[in-house]
Parts: sequence; C-alpha cells; structure tokens
Amino acid sequence: MSSPKPEETIERKSDETGDKVTPWDVNAESDTGIDYDKLIRRFGSSKISPELITRIESIIRKPVHHFIRRGIFFSHRDLESILTVYEQQKPFFLYTGRGPSSEAMHLGHLIPFIMTKWLQDAFDVPLVIQMTDDEKFLWKDITIDDANKYAYENAKDIIACGFDPTKTFIFSDFDFMAQCPNFYRNICRIQKSVTFNQVKGIFGFTESDCIGKIAFPAIQAAPSVSSSFPFIFGEKLKQELPCLIPCAIDQDPYFRMTRDVAPRLNFPKPSLIHSTFFPALQGSKSKMSASDPNSSIFLTDSPKDIKTKINKHAFSGGKDSIEEHRAKGGDCDIDVSFQYLTFFMDDDQRLEEIRQDYSSGKLLTGELKKILIEVLQTLVAQHQERRKQVTSDVVRQFMTPRQLNFRY
Ligand code: TYM
Repeated sequence: MSSPKPEETIERKSDETGDKVTPWDVNAESDTGIDYDKLIRRFGSSKISPELITRIESIIRKPVHHFIRRGIFFSHRDLESILTVYEQQKPFFLYTGRGPSSEAMHLGHLIPFIMTKWLQDAFDVPLVIQMTDDEKFLWKDITIDDANKYAYENAKDIIACGFDPTKTFIFSDFDFMAQCPNFYRNICRIQKSVTFNQVKGIFGFTESDCIGKIAFPAIQAAPSVSSSFPFIFGEKLKQELPCLIPCAIDQDPYFRMTRDVAPRLNFPKPSLIHSTFFPALQGSKSKMSASDPNSSIFLTDSPKDIKTKINKHAFSGGKDSIEEHRAKGGDCDIDVSFQYLTFFMDDDQRLEEIRQDYSSGKLLTGELKKILIEVLQTLVAQHQERRKQVTSDVVRQFMTPRQLNFRY
C-alpha cells in the first residue's frame, strides 16, 4: 500500500500554536482567537481560495453566501471533486448533524445549518441530518430518554432553518439504529477497520474512557456512506454516492478518520467544508458553548435576555474612556459585537461602514452593541416564529425514513 498523502495523516498530536480544537474543547491562546491558517496546516485541510469561490459562483451562477465570502467557511477537503461531480450532472448528497445535549440550541449551532440550507438550495440535493443522542448519552450526565427527547426538540430548531421537507431526512441515532439494518452494517464495517490505537491518536481517548465512546466515531462516520440510507438512494446502489459535509472545524477529527478508512471499504472519501467558530460572548479565545449559559445567546432567549447578555458580557474592543476611544478607536479584531455582526449582518457595505467608524473612534462600544442587539433580537424572534410553526407532525414527517424527492 502506498504511504498516505499528507492530508490523510489522521493522527495530529503536535500543536504548534497552543490552540486546542477537538470535538469537545476549543481554546485559543490569542485574544483574536484561533489561528485558522495554522489550523489548516495542522489538520492538513485546504483553504477556500478566491479561485475556488469564483469556480463555485460560475457553476451555480449566483454569488456565494456571505459565510463563504467573508471566510467564515474557510477550509475544505475535496470540495473541488464535489463541484466536478455537479458539473458532470452526477449525484451527491449533503450530510450534517447535531449532538442534542440540551433543549436549547445557541446561535453558534445555527452556522452550519444556515450554510447547509444554502447549499441544499444552490445545488438542489438531498440532505441527511444525524442527531447523535447516543453520543450525548455517552459523554454527558443525561439519561437516554432525555437525550432522545432533546433530539426531537432540537430537530424543531433545525427544521425552522427552512430545509425542504421533500429533500431532507433527520434521524435520531437511538431510533434509526433499530429502523435500518444497512446503517448498523456500515457502522460495523467501519468499527472493524479502525483500531483502538488509531482512535486514541485522533481523539485522545484513554484506557479509562467507556467503550461506548471508543466505538462511537464509527456511528458519526456511517451517514457519509450513501448505502446507509437504502430508502433514499435505493436498495441496489451500484456505486456509493459522493457526500459533502458542512460543519465547524471541531468535527473534522471524525471525518479524518472516515476519510482514512473509506478506501479500505470501497467507500468514497467524504468532502468537507469547515467553518470557524462563533465566539463566546467573553471573547474569541473560546467558542460559544451550551454548557456555559453566560457564554451563549440561545435561540430561546427573549429580546430582554439578548440585550442584557450583550450589554453585560460581550467582550469589547473599545477603549476605557470615551475620550481615549474617540482618539484611538476600537479594535474590531477582538470586539465580540463586531465579530457577531460579521456572521449575521448580510449587508457588506453597512458592515464596512461600522468597521471604519468603530476603528476610527466615531462609533462607541454602546452604539455598536445597540446595532448588534437589534440585529440579533430580529434574527432570534424570526427564528422563534418559524419554530412555532414546526408541529410534532412536521417533525415526524422529516424524521420518517422515506424516499426523498430529487433528480439524479
Ligand atoms: P454539536 O451539537 O456540538 O454542534 C452542531 C454543529 O454546530 C457546530 N458548532 C459551531 N459552529 C460554529 N460556532 C460554534 N460556536 C459552534 N458550536 C458548534 C458543530 O461543528 C456542528 O457542525 N458530534 C456532533 C453531531 C454530528 C455532526 C455530524 C456534526 C453528528 N454528525 C456531521 C457535523 C457533521 C456534535 O455534537 O455537534
């Protein structure tokens, strides 16, 4: 067997920056956050270049989403091959997921789902969404029943992002495992092809981790294989279909492992498109995390909660006094309110005006926060309104194994 290409070197222990990025922990050394260029080198992925963006735009004949344009989705693995497949009018599908650890999702969780919805519309392809209630049961101090309940609650927030019900299948691992033998068979194929040593290297598992954790990565890998969904792609697939996975870069270890085993099992390597992290209110050193309520704005927050959290906790890049701020200006690179606007203010021109005004000292921190509060109050209120429309029947529709409507 030939030696692996650098990007397939799945075990990456050395950390030249001191930044920590794992599926469970994200911590940066610098106030400006993770050094994403170094992370790309460390993980062996590729930067989304201006040339690649031009290629996407020429293929789909419209501008890319501002998440791609602004470098929020900044890294990929084999996105080119998905574009080639699409140009050749051959099929591919999208796969993403959520680990339902609590009833409420936060703004950071929305990022991959907003991107996925845009990709589904732009390429008109089927989508599978995995709710890893089993993962959360294994990792957190919650019961199986609660994790499973959160999967269905979180599915409502995901559906509220606007996915097409005729092209989207959402599943809870606990429930789907019993519904689909092909899924479990693919999991076992993957489990047989990865050693304990390999997962130790990739995920840092130790001898005292429960064996459920050690076997879990195969469960997150299997949905990238189209034969796990015979009711969608047909019982007698002649060839596995290519898959594109949008996620934040913390999930990459799972898919480095998947890409490593794929050739041994005659599965195509999944392609990926990675986002940066939506920062914690306290600053870009860590990501917004549901386990620290003060770090996060939740999709259940009221307009008042949003206002209080931003005014009280959003880390400011402004100066200590108004005089000093007017004279020296604020630092947009560390200012959380400005960072949040880069995610959720889609008007490029307005965002640039705000950047210039804040950097020059014309705009004060309180004024910047006021702009952000209005943007987020509107966004969250609109989300809550759409979520209200998502009844249990709608959830059942999305979560029933069934044929999807797509043309291949
Ligand atoms: P989970 O529930 O931790 O996160 C769900 C998705 O949100 C991304 N994410 C963030 N993105 C930007 N900023 C943040 N602060 C932030 N926090 C979380 C995650 O990268 C993820 O894409 N094991 C997974 C569930 C899963 C999955 C998948 C995710 C199963 N299959 C396939 C992506 C692709 C998890 O616990 O995600």
